[in-house]
Amino acid sequence: MMRLTPISNLMEKPSFLPPFMFGLLFATFGVILSAKYSSITVDQSALLALKSHITHDPHNFLTTNWSTSTSFCSWIGVTCGSKHYRVTALNLSSMDLTGTISSQLGNLSFLAWLDIHQNSFLGSLPIELTNLRRMKYLDFGNNSFNGEIPLWFGCFSKLQTLSLYLNNFIGVIPSTLGNLSKLERLSLGGNQMTGRIPNSLFKCKELKFLSLFNNSLEGSIPTEIENLTLLKTLGLGINHFKGEIPLVIGNLTSLLVLYLDNNKLTGEIPLVIGNLTSLQSLYLSYNKLTGEIPLVIGNLASLQMLYLFNNRLTGEIPLVIGNLTSLRELYLDNNKLTGEILSVIGNLISLTDINLGLNYFTGEIPSTIGNLTIFEAIYISNNNLLGEIPLVIGNLTSLRVLDLYNNKLTGEIPLVIGNLTSLRVLDLSNNKLTVLVCLGIYWNSTS
Ligand SMILES: *[C@@H]1O[C@H](CO)[C@@H](O)[C@H](O)[C@H]1NC(C)=O
Ligand SMILES: *[C@@H]1O[C@H](CO)[C@@H](O)[C@H](O)[C@H]1NC(C)=O
Ligand SMILES: *[C@@H]1O[C@H](CO)[C@@H](O)[C@H](O)[C@H]1NC(C)=O
Ligand SMILES: *[C@@H]1O[C@H](CO)[C@@H](O)[C@H](O)[C@H]1NC(C)=O
Repeated sequence: MMRLTPISNLMEKPSFLPPFMFGLLFATFGVILSAKYSSITVDQSALLALKSHITHDPHNFLTTNWSTSTSFCSWIGVTCGSKHYRVTALNLSSMDLTGTISSQLGNLSFLAWLDIHQNSFLGSLPIELTNLRRMKYLDFGNNSFNGEIPLWFGCFSKLQTLSLYLNNFIGVIPSTLGNLSKLERLSLGGNQMTGRIPNSLFKCKELKFLSLFNNSLEGSIPTEIENLTLLKTLGLGINHFKGEIPLVIGNLTSLLVLYLDNNKLTGEIPLVIGNLTSLQSLYLSYNKLTGEIPLVIGNLASLQMLYLFNNRLTGEIPLVIGNLTSLRELYLDNNKLTGEILSVIGNLISLTDINLGLNYFTGEIPSTIGNLTIFEAIYISNNNLLGEIPLVIGNLTSLRVLDLYNNKLTGEIPLVIGNLTSLRVLDLSNNKLTVLVCLGIYWNSTS
C-alpha cells in the first residue's frame, strides 16, 4: 500500500515511493523549475542582446553596470515584477547610447514600459516587438530611427502612449494606429510624415494628447476631429494643412493647447473658438487668416499665450482683450490691424511680452503700460504711433527689449530709460524723437 508522505520527506527518502511516482514528481517539478529558470534567462539574454547591439555607450552605463555577476533586475534602467522576476519596464532614456534595437527585445514578454527617448538609436524597428503584447508605453522619441512607421504598431492593443517624435520616419501615418483603442498620447512630431491624417485615427477616442507638428502633412483639418473630445493638446503646427479652421474645433472643450500655426489656413478665426474656455495657449501664427480678431476671444479667460502673428487680420484689437488677465504673451505682429493701442492693455497684469509690430496702429502709447511692471519685451516697430514716449516707461524695470523703430513718435526720449538696467535692445530709430545731451545739443532720431 502506498503511504502519503510530505514532499520534503519525499525528497529525502525517495526509496519510500514507487519508482514511477518519483519519476512523475521529478518531471513535474523539473518542468516548472526549468520553465521558470529558462524564462528568466530569456530575459537576461534579451537584455544582453540589446547591450551587444549598442555600439557607443559614452558614459559606460550599460558597459559596466549590465554585468552577469549581478541579477539583471538590479541593472540600471531595468525594472522587474516583484513576484516573477521578469522585466516589466526598461528605461534607457537620455543615456547618449548609439545602436540598433535587437530583435530579441521582443522576447521580454512581460515588458509593459519601454522608454529609450533621447539617445541615438537608429535603423528600423524589428517586427519581433509585436510579441510584446503587454506594452502600454513606448517612447522612442528623439532618436534617429528611419523608414516608415511600421503597420504593426497597430498590434499593441494595450498601448496608451506612443512617442516617435524627432526621428527620421517617412511616409504616411499608418491607418492601423486606429486600432489602438486605449491610446491617450500620440506624438509623431518632427519627422517627415506626408499625406493626410488617416480617418481611422479619430477612432482613438481616449486621445488626450495628439502632436503631429513639424511634418509635411496635407489636406484640410479633418472634421472627424470632433470625436476626440478628451483632447487637451492638439498640435498640428508646421505642416501643409489648408482650408478653413473647421467649426467642430468648438467641440473640443477640454483643449488647453491648440497649435495650428505655420500652415496654409485661410478664412476667419471661427467664433466657436470662444467655446474653448479652458484654452491656455492658442497658436495660429504663420497662416493666411483674414477678418477681425473675434470678440469671443474675451471668453478665453485662462489664455496665457495668444499668437496670431503673420496673418492677414484686419480691424482693431477688441476691447475685450482687457479681460484676459492671465495673458503672458501677446503676438499680433505682421497683420493689417488698425486703430489705437488700447489703454485696457494696462489690465493685462500677467503680460511679459507684446509684439504689435508691422501693423497700422496709430495714436499714442497708453500710459497704462506703466502698470505692467513685469513687462520684458515691447515690440511696436513699423506702425504709425504718434505722440511722446510716456514717462511711466521708467516703471518697467524688467524690460529687456524696447523696440519702437519706425513710427512717428515725437518729443524727447525720456531720461528714465537710462534706469532700465535690464534693457538689452533699445531701438527708437526712425522716429522724430530728440534727446537732450549734456552739452545742450539735440540729437534727432531721424538723422
Ligand atoms: C547598477 O546600477 C544600479 C542603479 O543605478 C545600482 O543600484 C547597481 O548597484 C549598479 N550595479 C553595478 C554592478 O554597478
Ligand atoms: C525614465 O527615466 C527618466 C529619467 O529618470 C524619467 O524622466 C522618465 O520619466 C522615465 N520614463 C518612464 C516611462 O518612467
Ligand atoms: C458654443 O457655445 C454656444 C453657447 O455659448 C452654443 O450655442 C454652441 O452650440 C457651441 N458650439 C459648439 C460648436 O460647441
Ligand atoms: C459638436 O457640437 C455640436 C454643437 O454643440 C453638437 O451638436 C455635436 O453633437 C457635437 N459633436 C460631438 C461629436 O460631440
